[in-house]
This record gives sequence, C-alpha cells and structure tokens, in this order.
Amino acid sequence: MTRRIPVGVLLSGGGTNLQALIDACASPTHPAEIVLVLSNNADAYGLERARKAGIATAVVNHREYSDRVTFDAALQTVLEDAGVEIVCLAGFLRILTEGFVEAWRDRMLNIHPSLLPAYKGLETHQRALDDGVALHGCTVHLVRADLDSGPMLLQAEVPVLPEDDAATLATRVLYREHEIYPAALSLLASGRIKVEDEVAFIDGVPGPKRLTMAG
Ligand code: GAR
Repeated sequence: MTRRIPVGVLLSGGGTNLQALIDACASPTHPAEIVLVLSNNADAYGLERARKAGIATAVVNHREYSDRVTFDAALQTVLEDAGVEIVCLAGFLRILTEGFVEAWRDRMLNIHPSLLPAYKGLETHQRALDDGVALHGCTVHLVRADLDSGPMLLQAEVPVLPEDDAATLATRVLYREHEIYPAALSLLASGRIKVEDEVAFIDGVPGPKRLTMAG
C-alpha cells in the first residue's frame, strides 16, 4: 500500500470542514491521513470531532504567547513532533507570520468562502449580497503570507438567490466547501500539484479548476 501523507489541521471553531476531511480520509483510497488537529482555542468543537474520530489533538493558546513569532514557533514544534507534512487551515482565526507560511510553502492549504480573488477577508457572504453578484462560492488555495492569497487549486460556484441572506448563502457555500477541500487535499497529497510562477498546475493544467453549478 502506498504511504499516506500525514496531515495536520489547524482550526479555531466548529470544524465542519475538518469533518469533511475526516470523512474523506476515512476512505483507504484517500492519499492523506489526518494525524493531528491543532487549535488555539481549547473550546473549539473541532477538537471534539477529532477525538471522536480517534485523531490526536493539541491546543496552543495564543494568549499564552507574547507575540506571533513565538506562537507560530510553538505551532511549528507541535506539527513537527506529530510528523505533519501537509497543513490544512480550516477556519483557523489567527494571522500566521511570514516565517511560518514560508516553512510550509506549497504544503499548506486554506479554504476561503469566496471565489478568490473576490472578497478576501471577513463577511464574504454579506459583501457578495451587497454587491448584488449572481455567483458566489469558495476556493481552496496554497497559502502565502498575504491574506487569502496564493496559488488556487479548486473553486466551486454557488448561485446567489433573490431571497438569500448571509446565513442562507453561507450554508450553500459551506456545502460546497465540504466537497472541494477533501478533493484539493487529495490532489496535493498525491503529488498532482506543481507550482510555477505562482500558478498551481493540476496534472499539468493551470488552476484553479472551477466546479460550476452544473457539476
Ligand atoms: C469556513 O466557512 C471557512 O471557509 C472559513 O471559516 C469557516 C470555518 O467553518 N474560513 C475563512 O473565512 C478563512 N479566511 P468550519 O469551522 O465549520 O469548517
């Protein structure tokens, strides 16, 4: 059997994306294995999801560190000790230092609830509604030091409906996040992603691959 790539998931909250990753990695054909779930928040429900799945957990509380550099160094130690080779950010609400991001260059994924480069940052759904866009969605990308930037792997579109509010739109987007995050992790873990001039190529085809509403 081929070796599965050890993955660490960083989160701060409920962890529905973690759950999608856990469920996908439960398949013996998925090339990644989650070996650690790490949170800055001891109360994150995502930690409970990990325990239920028999996955090791760790808490590194940012409040116990005087600055970002020492906090990120603590994260790095825990990840290295667990043998992590790919990091997945899944609702991790801390800004990471450039040094940490560079240490995981092309080995760290993030999921963001918009069709990047549109709507970086927070409140993506409300901002999309305010702009009256017809299409919204989500993106999985390799992480760079600038907020919500980096070579994009997969995107999924959702329609914006006339009756939507931020909550209904977020629910529809989240559903698709749970499809594309495990798929993007699978691509990266199986070595099918190559980055050239800050473009991610999937099996030689420049990304991002866009999953349309049709499928
Ligand atoms: C997800 O919607 C994810 O896209 C978003 O946080 C949520 C976490 O939900 N991430 C960002 O906004 C990152 N910029 P979850 O804890 O249920 O997976």
